[in-house]
Amino acid sequence: MESLLIKGGVPLHGEVTISGAKNAVLPIMAATLLTSEPCVIRRAPDLSDVTFMGQILTSLGAQVSIAGGTIRVQAAKIKEVGDYELVRKMRGSICILGPLLGRLRRACVSLPGGCIIGPRPIDLHLKGLAQIGAKITIEAGYVRARAPRLTGGEVFLGGRVGPTVLGTANVMMGAVLAEGVTIIESAACEPEVVDLADFLTAMGARISGAGSPTITITGVKELHGAEHEVLPDRIEAATYAIAAAATKGEVTLLGCRPDHLHAVLDKLHDAGVKTERRGTALTVRRGGRLKPVDVTTLPYAGFPTDVQAQMTVLMALTPGISVITERIFESRFMHVSELARLGADIAIEGPSAIVRGGKPLSGAPVMASDLRASAALVIAGLVAKGTTQVKRIYHLDRGYERIDEKLRKLGARVERVEEP
Ligand code: EPU
Repeated sequence: MESLLIKGGVPLHGEVTISGAKNAVLPIMAATLLTSEPCVIRRAPDLSDVTFMGQILTSLGAQVSIAGGTIRVQAAKIKEVGDYELVRKMRGSICILGPLLGRLRRACVSLPGGCIIGPRPIDLHLKGLAQIGAKITIEAGYVRARAPRLTGGEVFLGGRVGPTVLGTANVMMGAVLAEGVTIIESAACEPEVVDLADFLTAMGARISGAGSPTITITGVKELHGAEHEVLPDRIEAATYAIAAAATKGEVTLLGCRPDHLHAVLDKLHDAGVKTERRGTALTVRRGGRLKPVDVTTLPYAGFPTDVQAQMTVLMALTPGISVITERIFESRFMHVSELARLGADIAIEGPSAIVRGGKPLSGAPVMASDLRASAALVIAGLVAKGTTQVKRIYHLDRGYERIDEKLRKLGARVERVEEP
């Protein structure tokens, strides 16, 4: 197993190009199942989750090639079974359910199982697909969905903590080939949902309202092949922005979408971080002393849960007390006990982390538990005195393209080593 060795204390300086978004490319890859014609996806990030989704599509019968940031898929003939051994490894793979149902009128996909960041039910996905005509049963750990006719209908996707991102993707992908009109209420508004809708539209789907809580889909008889460029990853951008601020550096993010980062930039600004936008470039600079800010994670356009761990590190470096409240995933504080090993003073009170910031961090071996927790540990390691060893970095490779190379280009002393 590999780990990252980070010698802390170097401010990050320079430019970093933001990759295509992981959470956009995965459902877009799944959407290629909706047509027998070839599809081309550009600006695909080189991530293990992408390789993995490629394997799932291959296991369903599609021809897949992934090279140099371009994914080509042709799902000429496919089967309906998404195997447990594949699906359980990546929760995002549940988004094959909607396209299989849309294309084949039947799907049999393993339930994805638990996840380190908390329970991840799919009740809303299933309710939504049932509302457009699917008959759904759970048998032997598999979701079996059948729909001799997909009829369209009114679907409400508001859950306990708001809308569901992949649930919205699944219903959208089921509805594009249904008869009649589907209206999704309380749809997720994330930019990744809009990117998927853009790809489906390029394939011939009729979708309006993506990016708002009401999405209307008018079913069509069939979809054709399409080409699409994936949108830039707003979570990767936010991670490098926070790393720049944390290390007292100055970093320009190239090829990003600052308009997708309002909530993060607003909080960084309140904390005293300077940012400057020029089109798709965003320069982030630590001005003077940081100020503590309270943060609550919310569905888009609120502060993203996927940036909560990284922001917690920034507040751990900021003198004063801040409260970070997690409203999307209940167990998403796995990074806190590892940050404590570096010297951070953080207490968990229910859904909140109370951060008493400003304590010096010193390097230590730490264990990555999930993707964003790992990113937080890397940022902490970039600041901590001495050497930090972030173990189990396969989590990072799921969602950050060549993070060690990108950080080295910004001046960081980071090395990837085989764990002793
Ligand atoms: N929920 C339900 N029922 C459902 C579905 C979701 O109660 O049927 C709840 C969840 O338990 C959670 C909330 O609704 O409390 C939101 O979950 P959502 O369905 O929106 O999450 P997701 O679609 O499974 C995607 C991203 C996550 C990201 C979340 C929230 C992908 C592949 N994953 O997950 O990304 O945190 O949206 O924005 O798109 C990551 O990249 O590190 C990551 C975990």
